[in-house]
Amino acid sequence: MNSALNLNNVSLEYPDGSSTLMALDAVNLNVRKGEFLSLVGPSGSGKSSLLAVAATLVAPTAGLVIIDGQDVSALSAAERTALRRDKVGIIFQQPNLLPSLTAVEQLLIRGHLRGKPVRTEREKAAELLNVVGLSGAAHKRPHQLSGGQRQRVNIARALMGSPTVLLVDEPTAALDHERSGSIVRLLRQVTNDFQTATVMVTHDTEFLPLTDAVATMRDGRVSRALVPSAQPN
Ligand SMILES: Nc1ncnc2c1ncn2[C@@H]1O[C@H](COP(=O)(O)OP(=O)(O)O)[C@@H](O)[C@H]1O
Ligand SMILES: [Mg+2]
Repeated sequence: MNSALNLNNVSLEYPDGSSTLMALDAVNLNVRKGEFLSLVGPSGSGKSSLLAVAATLVAPTAGLVIIDGQDVSALSAAERTALRRDKVGIIFQQPNLLPSLTAVEQLLIRGHLRGKPVRTEREKAAELLNVVGLSGAAHKRPHQLSGGQRQRVNIARALMGSPTVLLVDEPTAALDHERSGSIVRLLRQVTNDFQTATVMVTHDTEFLPLTDAVATMRDGRVSRALVPSAQPN
């Protein structure tokens, strides 16, 4: 099986008064390495829940989450944390950068936690800042960066662990149109270059043609379709 991310009959229930709310309802999803999937659907349809389960941050009520061939439910809490660190990159709408750190330091604190040699990590951080177009801004702090540049730091940081799976929740929601386009194009490029299995929640239907496939969520259920042939302008 060449699927990097596999959700197999995944359900997620939340208690809701006397009954339960099905945030995810028997979801099946496969994303291959190098594949860029967009996830659309109305507010409350379960998109963020799907990402949280795929990120191994929330355990499903039923079904299997398989990342790079590993069944997450078979792992201990410590093994799950290690899997998340080594295989999963997460990018949220708000970059959540630390105000006192420079762009390169935002990437390196993660490396520090991993206990890797600092020089290797420094080289990797410099390379990734170059990939996201920020090599000239490595020593700037968040307040010296535009919203788009902060989101680029966020993307570079998520790539520091060389993830197999890249999960992105509304990365352009806080950006203007032009910056949104360049962020989605960057995600397309890193998906190709680093062969991540990328899932992006988005409301920008205009950029769907940059992705390989579109999954639509409604009431916790997922349907998957090929992208419309229209090209973004
Ligand atoms: N921690 C939670 N506790 C209870 N209900 C939740 C929780 N998180 C999400 N929900 C509910 O699950 C459903 C799906 O939410 P969510 O995954 O955030 O949807 P989306 O990202 O598509 O807007 C919604 O009805 C939401 O209210
Ligand atoms: Mg959401």
